[in-house]
Amino acid sequence: MGAFSTGVPPPRRVAHRATTASLQALLPFIAESSLGSAGVYIGTDAFSRSPFYYDPIRMYLDGVIGDPNILVIGRLGYGKSALMKALSRRLNVVGYSTIYLDPKGETTPLAGAFGVEPLRLAAGGALRLNPLDEKLASATGLDPTRERELLMRAVLPVMLERPLRPAELRIVSEVVREVVESCPQPTLRDVHAGLAARGAVTCDPADALWDYIHGPAGALFDAPTSAGVDLNAPLLALNLRRLTQTLTAEKQRLVTLALAAAWLFAIVSRRRGYKLFVADEAWFMLRHRAAAEWFQAQWKLCRATSTANVAVLHRLSDLEAADGTMASVRGLLSDCATKVIFNQEPGEIPLLQKHLGLSSTEVEYVRSLGRAWALWRVGERSFVVKLDVQPAEWAIVDTDGAMRGEVLDGPED
Ligand SMILES: Nc1ncnc2c1ncn2[C@@H]1O[C@H](COP(=O)(O)OP(=O)(O)OP(=O)(O)O)[C@@H](O)[C@H]1O
Ligand SMILES: [Mg+2]
Repeated sequence: MGAFSTGVPPPRRVAHRATTASLQALLPFIAESSLGSAGVYIGTDAFSRSPFYYDPIRMYLDGVIGDPNILVIGRLGYGKSALMKALSRRLNVVGYSTIYLDPKGETTPLAGAFGVEPLRLAAGGALRLNPLDEKLASATGLDPTRERELLMRAVLPVMLERPLRPAELRIVSEVVREVVESCPQPTLRDVHAGLAARGAVTCDPADALWDYIHGPAGALFDAPTSAGVDLNAPLLALNLRRLTQTLTAEKQRLVTLALAAAWLFAIVSRRRGYKLFVADEAWFMLRHRAAAEWFQAQWKLCRATSTANVAVLHRLSDLEAADGTMASVRGLLSDCATKVIFNQEPGEIPLLQKHLGLSSTEVEYVRSLGRAWALWRVGERSFVVKLDVQPAEWAIVDTDGAMRGEVLDGPED
């Protein structure tokens, strides 16, 4: 059976046969010569009918793309997570490890394929992750104190629901530096004590931090990281499904995701070798200006750490609708040399054209891509590819089980 016997992307305008070379002339940026065979097999390119291979870091090192980061964007249920799980497994074969921020709790089968268990963070559970943990100090020359300072400067505005004032920013930085230098095992509680000790100027951020620490998720991030967490596991998947389900306030969910991401970023920065860091459902975090700016800064720091960062989004309008964060997300988009674009609603097209620079021909395809098909923009080249799921991968990529009433994430979840 051919790789595109179903869900063929929009053939509306391609009613004739032509060689790849002539198609390239007719449809520049759509019908591309192959990227070559650097990387792992993804599927068959609908135009050249040749296999499409991909390896973000190797292609970056070979000068094929300007950075190894990946934006994955597409409608609900069109195959974004499936692609990342399959890519994670396939890249592992060529030496990558994966760090996976999993807000929906879908990585248990993937973890099984790696022979590990996901980390499950839940209110009332035993697992603790300390985003200020000194043990996680960078093995790659980044400044861990600065990373913690940036984290607090990002999450406090979310907790406060307003930007930090200049005096608050200065004191937050000072306090984090003091805490990291003086405490053998710094925690959020220590930062709170430092802010509270500075009196009236930082009374608002201190109170906001206090509220978070004493809220439903605070205790999970306000203690030393649990012993026994294997920081070197080839797949470190952090399952937040239970936790995010119990958090009703949006700002609590956002801060929780940012703290979880910060802990994972610290893992990324200490780990050697090629890595894929998947932030699934990243749109939620990127809706808030301070969180989005921090996230982008982390990506930039990752440049030194052989990491391909992946942000998974539904649609750009999710980001624009919030508080004007589009400005900072634009930077993030331009830091993604690879953009994998699944089907998008017609209303999203102007934003795709504006922010991703899609041509009218590419837009035409994106509007009518079938499930699991995606337009891959790799640098300046474009391909239309459906992930070819291997038999052994079905259990890993299937998320429709929840709709069939199956328990996806193991009985304990
Ligand atoms: N390449 C593929 N071939 C066949 N089926 C696929 C493919 N990719 C995904 N699917 C099926 O589509 C379903 C949804 O996929 P997935 O969970 O990856 O969607 P998603 O885009 O991440 O959705 P959401 O936005 O809700 O997280 C899965 O059950 C999976 O089995
Ligand atoms: Mg998904």
